[in-house]
Amino acid sequence: MSRPAIAYINLNHLRHNYRLLTQRSTGASVMAIIKANGYGHGQALIAPVLLAEGCRHFGVTDACEGAQLRKLLAAAGSGEESTIAMLAGIYDKEDAGLATAHALTPAITDSAQIGLLKEAGFHGSVWIKIDTGMNRLGAEQPQLLIKQCHDSAIAVRGIMSHLACADEPDHPMNRQQAASFSSQCRQIDPQLPRSLLNSAGIITMPEEAGDIVRPGLALYGIEPLPAMPVGLKPVMTLTGAIVQVRNIPAGASISYGASFTARQPMRIAVVSLGYADGLPRGLSNKGQAFLRGQTLPVVGRVCMDYTMLDITGTDAEQGDYVEFWGENISAGDVAGALDTISYTLFTGIGERVTRLAV
Ligand SMILES: Cc1ncc(COP(=O)(O)O)c(C=O)c1O
Repeated sequence: MSRPAIAYINLNHLRHNYRLLTQRSTGASVMAIIKANGYGHGQALIAPVLLAEGCRHFGVTDACEGAQLRKLLAAAGSGEESTIAMLAGIYDKEDAGLATAHALTPAITDSAQIGLLKEAGFHGSVWIKIDTGMNRLGAEQPQLLIKQCHDSAIAVRGIMSHLACADEPDHPMNRQQAASFSSQCRQIDPQLPRSLLNSAGIITMPEEAGDIVRPGLALYGIEPLPAMPVGLKPVMTLTGAIVQVRNIPAGASISYGASFTARQPMRIAVVSLGYADGLPRGLSNKGQAFLRGQTLPVVGRVCMDYTMLDITGTDAEQGDYVEFWGENISAGDVAGALDTISYTLFTGIGERVTRLAV
């Protein structure tokens, strides 16, 4: 039997989110960002559903993710009409070979990358990634790159940039970046397709959608702006099974460091989900789980493989699966309580957690 730790992946919610984002994208195409194993949800579950919904543009991090995705899409009946952008570009010769073999579309920031593609015999297309204020990846000389592409029979798919503060709608950087993007695109080549917006940007600056938008988080059902919900539905529900129920006396302590001591006799559930599965250790004595309308507090420290819950006075039993985030406990709220973002929760889910489509 596999480990009783399951992330349920609600494909209807994924469909709903994709449709909603498509409607809000004011005529732009949607590039579904399914990097890092579909934000931890399982690329193999996510990609075929999006393809069936009509999605023909996907974004991953690098060539390895891109090659895997190309195989998945081919198995789902899609040829090279589906584009796969490699947002991190090309690292080395091997990447350039994979990009060539699997018809990937790297986002390019320097001449060396074009050199590698040329050597690999690449005649596909590339995105030119420019910086508009985030000061992460960005081409210093985009025009030169475009010329090199033309000289090497490499097509330019478009120009992209990324917003630094899209989840803070009033942040002045948003308008500054949008203005810088339009003016740089005009200067570089006004005819080239443009792509600027991530999930939060689609909601707050739809007029900047350009030719193609790049939602990630929102596809998975997290509201990028909790104060401006748009009706997204959570895709992942993370659960672990109660593998033992313990009755402990008053005065007994629980888990490593004896950080929790029972004031009265308690029923404790030992759940098969720990930090090696991606349940953050910060939830020790702080988090909660959900079962049949009941909230079950985490007691003691989260261990590598287990987490203990207070089930005193509840109907919880051995074999029950409890939810740590998903349809009843928002992953966004869990992340907020830990002073992190839901991206880190999702991408931290361990390999030994089964992703199960529902
Ligand atoms: C270049 C790029 N585009 C789009 C996205 C998707 O962003 P989000 O998940 O906020 O929609 C990311 C995510 O990190 C990214 O790096």
